[in-house]
Amino acid sequence: MANSITIENVHAAYGSVRVLEDVTITVNSGETVALLGTNGNGKSTLMKCVMGIVRPVSGRIVAEIDGEKHDLVGRTTEQIVDLGIALVPEGRRLFPKLTVEENLLLGASRRKARAQIKANMDFCFDAFSRLAERRNQLAGSMSGGEQQMLALARALMLSPRILLVDEPSVGLAPLLVSRTIDAIKQLKDHYQLTVLMAEQNFKQAVRIADHGYVIVHGKIAFEGRSAEELNNNDLVRKLYLGM
Ligand SMILES: Nc1ncnc2c1ncn2[C@@H]1O[C@H](COP(=O)(O)OP(=O)(O)OP(=O)(O)O)[C@@H](O)[C@H]1O
Ligand SMILES: [Mg+2]
Repeated sequence: MANSITIENVHAAYGSVRVLEDVTITVNSGETVALLGTNGNGKSTLMKCVMGIVRPVSGRIVAEIDGEKHDLVGRTTEQIVDLGIALVPEGRRLFPKLTVEENLLLGASRRKARAQIKANMDFCFDAFSRLAERRNQLAGSMSGGEQQMLALARALMLSPRILLVDEPSVGLAPLLVSRTIDAIKQLKDHYQLTVLMAEQNFKQAVRIADHGYVIVHGKIAFEGRSAEELNNNDLVRKLYLGM
């Protein structure tokens, strides 16, 4: 069944500072969409608008979950998570003093996911064997790459339909970046997720994206309808490819 997100003409601000201007983005069911932008351009703010953490000044955000449409603006984060939308936040936000397994258990806060705790945990440990080996290790003592895997796995404990991932590559060595991006693709395929991923690592993001948007100073500067269109765009070449 269809699971999509439509962000329409969203404006957002922190006090008098405008951060998002007229942002329109569509993530169709089963797609991976890349939100590309360098530091401070509004990627996380947009993710927070979807999750009800920041309330847009104006605009609409509609999620279709299992074929049913829901207006998200005005809902609490808990309600949005309950619908089946999960965020892997920037900087992972794990509980460092709790174990891997405890972090995963706390991830299963959505009502519908509680009955599936065992199956989801088994899948996480299957998909990330390193987490299984380290299930009793404190999250804060894991390496950066392991922590990113744990953050992804924790979001899956919600049995989400739509997954938002905010800069999964930050702070990781190149090999771990490509492993993390591969993991997102693998999880998406296994769970038939719809994915919106914010990234600065253009090459890695475009590897798994169906299409993408470039955000500059809070405005969508370019919409590439395919990875090829993104690769061939002049702005993208200037900002990301050094050409
Ligand atoms: N809580 C806040 N209060 C005031 N200004 C904020 C707040 N959060 C973000 N901003 C500002 O909004 C702008 C966009 O920030 P945002 O975090 O959305 O960007 P980003 O694209 O995610 O950047 P990065 O790649 O560094 O994570 C920045 O100028 C930032 O300083
Ligand atoms: Mg950010």
